Amino acid sequence: MKPVLQIWHPFTNRALDPAPLMVRRAEGAYLYGSDGRKILDAISSWWVNLHGHANPRIAAAIAAQARKLEHVILAGFSHEAAEELAERLRKWVPSALTHVFFSDDGSTAVEVALKMAVQYFRNAGRTEKNEIVALAHGYHGDTAGAMSVSDESPFTEPFRPMRYAVHRVHSAYCYHCPVGLKRESCHIECAQQLEALLAERGKRIAAVIVEPLLQGAGGMIVHPVEFLQWVRELCTKHDVLLIADEVLTGFGRTGKMFACDLANVVPDLMCLSKGLTGGFMAMGATLCTDRVEEAFCSEERMHTFYHGHSYTGNALACAAGSESLRIFEEEAVFERILTIAKIHAERLAHLRRMHQVGDARQIGTMGAIELVAEDAGYLSAMGPKLYAFFVEHGVLLRPLGNVVYVLPPYVIEPEELHRVWDVIGEAVETLL
Ligand SMILES: Cc1ncc(COP(=O)(O)O)c(C=O)c1O
Repeated sequence: MKPVLQIWHPFTNRALDPAPLMVRRAEGAYLYGSDGRKILDAISSWWVNLHGHANPRIAAAIAAQARKLEHVILAGFSHEAAEELAERLRKWVPSALTHVFFSDDGSTAVEVALKMAVQYFRNAGRTEKNEIVALAHGYHGDTAGAMSVSDESPFTEPFRPMRYAVHRVHSAYCYHCPVGLKRESCHIECAQQLEALLAERGKRIAAVIVEPLLQGAGGMIVHPVEFLQWVRELCTKHDVLLIADEVLTGFGRTGKMFACDLANVVPDLMCLSKGLTGGFMAMGATLCTDRVEEAFCSEERMHTFYHGHSYTGNALACAAGSESLRIFEEEAVFERILTIAKIHAERLAHLRRMHQVGDARQIGTMGAIELVAEDAGYLSAMGPKLYAFFVEHGVLLRPLGNVVYVLPPYVIEPEELHRVWDVIGEAVETLL
């Protein structure tokens, strides 16, 4: 008899990590295990879930769409579900973003943006403008191109030979300021490195890619808005495209619909995924301006953007996305977001006084503490210990090494969110 086909789980080492928990069903902010356990999902299942697990509105929208049209090739064809999602997105994104290109997930949304940026200049006859700039501590996904623009980390280490070269510049990581200053008195000097690079090499640079205001997987690093504003100014000055990777920050995570809105910044390209379908279906989207898209519309066949995925514009994902946006329009989502932000602020104000806590950071619905650790970083020994403690106490939190963060679905109740912070406080007291 053939042995069973075993699932190879992501970011998991079978020799070191606990066996996966079987989830039977989920509802609202809770996961229900096959063993009868009830676990509060305080990280929205890798930052995707917005309006609660098994949200009945989104579930019904997908079911209705499945009975009508599940999927159709998007080259040469279109369909109502895709047209509706584009129309609904248009209301929320900066008005200069006029075109949307659908893909499969966050990584492919980033790949699309990078390739669009390079081909944009090529189509314009400026083939020398093909280099990319990215930030220290950045994370943009696990496919080869997205991994190249991501900073070096345990995730990328085995793949050095596969990563293409990019220019890496300082991030505004104020707790570990790259230029040794204090936020209270600095003038965002960390951006001067990008300024110098663009002044020297701008003619060869196609794009700067950033996670606007919040670098997620790199350690939940919150940037001052002035940093993003300055990056925008520099890109404009040197005719370099700004790619805002809003895969994590999009759809209310930072308090506004998009992080760029908080800084009044309009990027040339914007990558979306995660919350795009409310956390129900895999989907990516890359938005761009008229100026970018027009460079691909020409009598010259080779100006075509030869990129696409089998499931591009999948109708079920589009239906989920539209319903998620309808929920934003019809329910008090931004009030829920505000409540979460207030509770985070209140609890972080207490936690930051603990001697084990080096820094406390927050932006909108993301609240994080960076714990003092000799082995600071993603592989800190604290990570697995904390994770086990949290799950044992009925809360799903996946620390990024010595950084513990909370990023809950917006439907979490205030008392549930307080419980999450109680468990974090207990873990810090007990384990460190
Ligand atoms: C900012 C950012 N970009 C891109 C990605 C990649 O998205 P995906 O895992 O859907 O490929 C992530 C995933 O965490 C992310 O946080």
